[in-house]
Amino acid sequence: MKKSTKKISLLLLALCTLCLTACTASPAPTDETYDDFILVGFSQVGAESDWRNANTKSMQAALSEENGYRLIIDDAQQKQERQITAIRNFIHQGVDYIILAPTTEKGWDTVLLEAKAAGIPVIIVDRMIESEDDTLFTSWIGSDFRKEANTAVRWMEQHFGSKPLRIVHLQGNIGSSAQIGRTEGLDAGLQNNPSWQLVYRDTGDFTQAKGQELVEALLADGLEFDLIFAENDNMAYGAIDALKNAGLTPGRDVTIISFDANRAALEMVITGEIAYDVECNPLHGPRVQKIIEKLEKGEATPKLTFVEESAFDADTITREMMDSRGY
Ligand code: AHR
Repeated sequence: MKKSTKKISLLLLALCTLCLTACTASPAPTDETYDDFILVGFSQVGAESDWRNANTKSMQAALSEENGYRLIIDDAQQKQERQITAIRNFIHQGVDYIILAPTTEKGWDTVLLEAKAAGIPVIIVDRMIESEDDTLFTSWIGSDFRKEANTAVRWMEQHFGSKPLRIVHLQGNIGSSAQIGRTEGLDAGLQNNPSWQLVYRDTGDFTQAKGQELVEALLADGLEFDLIFAENDNMAYGAIDALKNAGLTPGRDVTIISFDANRAALEMVITGEIAYDVECNPLHGPRVQKIIEKLEKGEATPKLTFVEESAFDADTITREMMDSRGY
C-alpha cells in the first residue's frame, strides 16, 4: 500500500486524542498533514497488566516516527464497545493500517467488515477473534494460550502425580482467547487427574487488585487449598500479597502457577514464591512492523503466526535468563 499522503483534519485527530489515556497515548499531533508517514491505528485492550504495558511499549518503539510511522493508540479499558468505536474512528481518519488486540473473541464481524469495505488492512495481535470469515483480517500474530495451559498442567502432573490437589483458579477477562485457552487447558487437566479438585473459580480480570481481592475473600471464608492457578502474573502478585497478609508463605503453604513470565515474576520464581511461570510474549511491535513492511512492498504475509514461548521453574531458570528479559 502507498504511504499515506492524505490530509488529516485536526478535528478528527483531536476527537481521537480525547479517547487516549495518559499512559498509552501517542502525543497529540501538532501538524495538519502527515505526508510520508504510514498512519496506523492501534486498538489496545487496556492497561490491565504489566504484560499489556510491555506490549504497548513494544508497539510504540517499533511503529515510531523514526521508523516512518504515525501511531494512534486507543486504550479500550477492557471494553469491546470502546474498541469498536476506536476502529470506526480509525476508518474515518483514513488510517493505512488497523492493529487490533481484541478484548474478547466474539462480536467483531460488523466493524471489521466496515474496515474491509474501506480497504484498510487489519492486523490482529495477541488474542484471536472468532469469525467464519477469515478475510476480515490480513494477518494474526500471537500466543497459543491452550498450549501454554497444557505446559502448566504437565508440570503439575509431574510435581503432584496422583496426590490430592485442591485448586483455586483465577481467570482472566471472560471471553478473551487468553482466558479461554488457559481455562480449557486446566479443565482438561482436571478431567485427566481425578485426584485434583477445583475448589474455586472466578475472574480476576487479569488485574493485581482483583486477584488480591478474590484470594483475600477466600481466606476470610476459611477455604482450604493447595494451589493457585492464576491466568496471569498480575493476578498471581495479588494472590501472593493476600497469602502473605494472612501469614501464609507462598511456595511453601500454597503452590502458585502463573502465566506471562514478566521479569518481576521470574524474580519470584527464583525466590520460590511462584513455582512455575509459563511465558506469554508481549513483544509484538517488531513482528507487526515486519508484517507492515511486507505489505508495503506488496508481498504476502502469513495468515497466522504463533510466537515461540518457554516456561520457567526454580530448576530451569538462571539469573542470566532473568536479566536478559525484555519485559
Ligand atoms: O492476552 C494476553 C494476556 O492479557 C496476558 O496474559 C495478560 O497479562 C494480559 O492482560
